Amino acid sequence: MKQFFLIITALALVMISGGRVSKDIIPGAIWPDNKGVHINAHGGGILFHKGKYYWFGEHKVEGEKGNQAWVGVHCYSSKNLTNWKDEGIALEVITGDPGHAITEGCILERPKVIYNRKTKKFVMWFHLELKDRGYDAARSGVATSDRITGPYTFMKSFRPNAGHWPLNVKDIHQQPVGDQVKDKYCGGKGCLPGHPDTVNLLGRDFQGGQMARDQNLFVDDDGKAYHIYSSEENSTLHISLLTEDYLSESGKYIRVFPGRYMEAPAIFKYQGNYFLIASDCTGWDPNAARLARAPDIFGPWEELGNPCIGTDAELTFHSQSTFVLPVQGKKDAFIFLADRWNPKNAIDGRYVWLPVQFDENGIPLLKWMDRWNLNFFSKK
Ligand code: GAL
Repeated sequence: MKQFFLIITALALVMISGGRVSKDIIPGAIWPDNKGVHINAHGGGILFHKGKYYWFGEHKVEGEKGNQAWVGVHCYSSKNLTNWKDEGIALEVITGDPGHAITEGCILERPKVIYNRKTKKFVMWFHLELKDRGYDAARSGVATSDRITGPYTFMKSFRPNAGHWPLNVKDIHQQPVGDQVKDKYCGGKGCLPGHPDTVNLLGRDFQGGQMARDQNLFVDDDGKAYHIYSSEENSTLHISLLTEDYLSESGKYIRVFPGRYMEAPAIFKYQGNYFLIASDCTGWDPNAARLARAPDIFGPWEELGNPCIGTDAELTFHSQSTFVLPVQGKKDAFIFLADRWNPKNAIDGRYVWLPVQFDENGIPLLKWMDRWNLNFFSKK
């Protein structure tokens, strides 16, 4: 009789979890939450707070329509990084107000949340494209909440660093702007008439603020927070120090990798060095990841090639970076988080999570694994 009940309980667990009771991470698989529904948090990031991880990401709907925001930013919580509880929508898009910056049908991508110890506020930054304007607006949005799971209140959207030159500004950028780019926005890679160190996009956008598309946040050990965003028609990344309250840009920033069209940036710190994993700029299609290292977040940054190894390494295992998560309580343990997009049916995008490995020189490596779990980090 006792055995019978054990079997029934086990079966019930398998059913509740959609067949997934193990503590394994299975890159690219359907990943059911506590209700058995595939996790809906794309282009996401994770914040650890008071013993739990909180995963924030884009809530997508079915079909191509899902490439726009109809719901908002979804939040999930977990103690073990494999079993996730649905915490609902942390930031909702606005319905019934077509003029609102985050009205339904806008594009709201790559949301990231950080916690400000001084103000005790949770601060969310995201890439915002205004409704029906494609990817022209290239703005950053900010929302805050007193509770980690929300509701978050939308504060503002803007183009970063208006009226500020980067620390490493070049002479050309302070010269008059050429007619080729004056009033014209193009759609990214291949559309510029020249290298961004000769075509003055930075100068063009000096007054109104710099373009900001794919983005991430990074909080350093000293509590300083940085915004990393693809700017200048995606041609160049900017790394920008935030104000102490994390709500605005401080005006102190640098341009990095001009002309390299880096997207999907994610920064982490390992043994005193800053590492960046990013992608090339090919829309929803995967490409080869890019690794870079710097002794200081403001550089100099050095590219180190593709960190992926093995089959489909040149396609980042059919995914694109979104975040690098430091595992709590384990030294030098990091997880690479990426999206396997499905733009034809956006809700079916998958998550590719892999442990970051390091070679004998301390250079990060990514190897495909069919399934793995956090014990991986104990074996090192
Ligand atoms: C990708 C970007 C995504 C999304 C997509 C739209 O390059 O990383 O976040 O913006 O383009 O085509």
